[in-house]
Amino acid sequence: MFELTIEKVTKQYSGNDYQAVKSCDMKIKSGDFISIQGESGSGKSSLLLMMSGLLPPTSGRVLWNGESIYDMSDNALSIWRSKNVGYLFQNVQLVQALTVRENMLLSRSFGNDPTLDIEALITLFGLEDEANKLPSLLSGGQRRRAMIACVLSRDPLIVCADEPTNDLDSVWASKIMAILNDLKKKDKAIVLVTHDSRWITDDQIQYVMENGELNQA
Ligand SMILES: Nc1ncnc2c1ncn2[C@@H]1O[C@H](COP(=O)(O)OP(=O)(O)OP(=O)(O)O)[C@@H](O)[C@H]1O
Ligand SMILES: [Mg+2]
Repeated sequence: MFELTIEKVTKQYSGNDYQAVKSCDMKIKSGDFISIQGESGSGKSSLLLMMSGLLPPTSGRVLWNGESIYDMSDNALSIWRSKNVGYLFQNVQLVQALTVRENMLLSRSFGNDPTLDIEALITLFGLEDEANKLPSLLSGGQRRRAMIACVLSRDPLIVCADEPTNDLDSVWASKIMAILNDLKKKDKAIVLVTHDSRWITDDQIQYVMENGELNQA
């Protein structure tokens, strides 16, 4: 069991005269499915990056089981992130010089379960014909599926998903949402950022972001 606490977290990017994220509070526990909706530019990705250990806040704290993650050493924070947070970037990120399978194997080596079945994940994500290809040879939807498979190869405790259904057809979008939903049963937590109200359901803890302010829906 774990708890990630976001405490009065604010972000003002240098050069901007406004706060992209304004004093946000949130708690994420194992088994939670949290959704965040909001207009473009409202601060969703900035908040997700800060809770993931990828973007230091201007003020406020992010606590992992009570310990402030941005007070960890760079090394400790990297290890914390690789074991605990699977970040599905809004723009697909893969190592371009490695095949899909190699990306997944590399990812697994930084994760929680060195025996995790990569071939089963390749099948789950329909990537059998793409596994030996470089990311540049894949379609947009295949690349996104490969990125998600790669992140899940680490078996992270929290999945932070920034618009994970972008580039996907409706069949794959539904499948990916079902895969993310299933993580709850394994006591993981999911934080979903989406524009698409199709993926908002009553069993989620729902938030809305507006001009940097986060409110429970
Ligand atoms: N690296 C950056 N440097 C300066 N300003 C930034 C940076 N990243 C984001 N911003 C600004 O911060 C605000 C919030 O951006 P953010 O990307 O968090 O919004 P978002 O809700 O994720 O939008 P979208 O739905 O379009 O992805 C915007 O005004 C944006 O221009
Ligand atoms: Mg965004």
